[in-house]
Amino acid sequence: MEMNEPLIQMRGISKSFGGVEALKEVDLQLGRQEVLGLVGDNGAGKSTLIKILTGAITPDQGEILIDGEKVKITHPRDSQGLGIQAIYQDLSLVGTFDPPSNLFLGKEIIKRRFGLFPVLDKKKMLKEGLKTLREELMIDIPNPYNSVNKLSGGQQQAVAIGRAIYLKAKVIIMDEPTASLGVEECEKILDLIKRLKTQDCSVIVISHNMEHIFSVCDRVSVLRHGEIVGDRAVSDSSSTEIVSYITGAKG
Ligand SMILES: Nc1ncnc2c1ncn2[C@@H]1O[C@H](COP(=O)(O)OP(=O)(O)OP(=O)(O)O)[C@@H](O)[C@H]1O
Ligand SMILES: [Mg+2]
Repeated sequence: MEMNEPLIQMRGISKSFGGVEALKEVDLQLGRQEVLGLVGDNGAGKSTLIKILTGAITPDQGEILIDGEKVKITHPRDSQGLGIQAIYQDLSLVGTFDPPSNLFLGKEIIKRRFGLFPVLDKKKMLKEGLKTLREELMIDIPNPYNSVNKLSGGQQQAVAIGRAIYLKAKVIIMDEPTASLGVEECEKILDLIKRLKTQDCSVIVISHNMEHIFSVCDRVSVLRHGEIVGDRAVSDSSSTEIVSYITGAKG
């Protein structure tokens, strides 16, 4: 393994849904301790691409390499085994993923839906995750054992991130982490994303908010109609330029 090799490489990824070509030969790279923004208009293919990386969707074509080695990801447990954890803002989406990645949803739901799984271990993981959050990332969740509707969106995100770190995630993927958060909670989550690098984590963030993208990302990849049309270092670009890739004025 060469150290200058990207942590993750997705190569030539294509996926169609019936007649819709959601992704066309997409290449995506994620470096070590890098925060990558994945942007594009509605329907550009962002969620589909990251669902392929998490194993929730199987691509028609293409390959995924981690540390330069080809890997097989056909199920969320494969990606989790490889240190990839996805966090979703819209909790209704999580039903498609393994119960272990849903732990943070809260006591009631775990009891009702995941009663077959070793709840005590999971509780310990949550506890350790919260400790990690508090000690390493300086985020405190006042009532982590409350049912999910009593935690704010930002707190749920923070718990999920804490767990991902506890599970030694190498890569954390966030699809629209700030979409339904208030201003203050956004700031906290953005700060938390920045601090993840100190935990040896790489992050992929999907967002429509250019201000957020430019505040946390090192690099931005732009999808348009299922193709990568731009790949820029943030230090070398501007939100105007990225928006012009998104709309097709450039690229
Ligand atoms: N399960 C599915 N079945 C059929 N079509 C799908 C499915 N998932 C995605 N698509 C289609 O694939 C395309 C890409 O969708 P995707 O959800 O990846 O877009 P996105 O970039 O995440 O958009 P948004 O910003 O709105 O979340 C869209 O045309 C969408 O309608
Ligand atoms: Mg999406």
